[in-house]
Amino acid sequence: MLSTQDEARLDALYDSMKRANDNFLGYPFAKNFDYSALWRFMDLTGNNLGDPFDEGIYRVDSREFEREVVEFFATHFRAPVDDYWGYVTTGGTEGNTFGLYLGRELYPNGVAYFSRDTHYSVSKGVRLLKLPYAIVRSDAHGQIDYEDLKHQASAHPGQPAIVVANIGTTMKEGRDDVGKIKAALAEAGVRDVYVHSDAALCGPYAPFIEPRPVFDFADGADSVTISGHKFIGAPMPCGVVVTRKYHVQRITRAIDYIGSLDSTLGGSRSAFAPILLWYALRTLGLDGLRSSFEQCEALAAYAVATLTERGVDAWRNAAALTVVFPPVRDEVRAKWQLASQDVSHLIVTPGTTKEQVDALISAMTLTTELVPGC
Ligand SMILES: Cc1ncc(COP(=O)(O)O)c(C=O)c1O
Repeated sequence: MLSTQDEARLDALYDSMKRANDNFLGYPFAKNFDYSALWRFMDLTGNNLGDPFDEGIYRVDSREFEREVVEFFATHFRAPVDDYWGYVTTGGTEGNTFGLYLGRELYPNGVAYFSRDTHYSVSKGVRLLKLPYAIVRSDAHGQIDYEDLKHQASAHPGQPAIVVANIGTTMKEGRDDVGKIKAALAEAGVRDVYVHSDAALCGPYAPFIEPRPVFDFADGADSVTISGHKFIGAPMPCGVVVTRKYHVQRITRAIDYIGSLDSTLGGSRSAFAPILLWYALRTLGLDGLRSSFEQCEALAAYAVATLTERGVDAWRNAAALTVVFPPVRDEVRAKWQLASQDVSHLIVTPGTTKEQVDALISAMTLTTELVPGC
């Protein structure tokens, strides 16, 4: 049993995390999920050790549900019906590292290319994998500069390219175009190309955007990853990576100890994250995901319009949920946990309310009066 003092510490931690959840607009985490129907699983050990598509000795797993989550995203990202593979990861970072790993195993003498707006997990991944790399310029909206990509790749014409395309950069939600990336590399004389699409935030809703971003398997990507806790929402970080079967076959090893194939980066893997994602996808369905996206997009549009009306230089990329503006004062940044580099941003995710957006706008524009329409 916990001591009274420890009980009090837990209560204080809960209150502080709850308050932080309520004032959280700068990082993309959905907040309106309800997984209470799944609490009974917390009494069980769960472990998806091994390959989701292979039976192992382990039975304390949820691999059947994991396969359905992977299947959902494989379909969402237009992978060939009989030629996809994937698993539920610990988040976008693991998905990016895995994509780079598959690229390096396919092209051991490859050079990695990614834009300077790319998430730091990618530069960590290339260091970890000892991949030579080139950082490519990007434009003011966060999209990779195809001319600079061509220019940099021209310096390595005989070497394959392993490219990370951003389908929503961290700060500006800039989206790269896989078709244009491939064209730039072809012009540079690079024939062998592996493309990993980092769709950490946008993956679940990118297929609903018109015109559809050019990022998925039908567009020529070799792997695509998302973070599960960003747009879908989960109490713990998680993600999904999807690739083609033939890429993963290259790295798979049979392991007697687990009676299964080892093809994932982690050994023991959460059995709960796949259950949560499965539950979210089954309860929302495609229509629910789409309508969540549409609500978020309308609120992001409202934030840009209201900030602009109040003289703040705010903007967003087409259909983006990320509202970009000049860096804010320290106290506003601290209260709303806003990431700041050359710009600051607000990210509207499921569960972000108009009241929160209005309160942030009021704080940013140093007024306590309510903004019009609220
Ligand atoms: C574009 C992008 N990729 C990857 C990641 C890493 O995702 P995770 O935090 O789930 O590891 C992030 C996180 O913010 C991101 O914005």
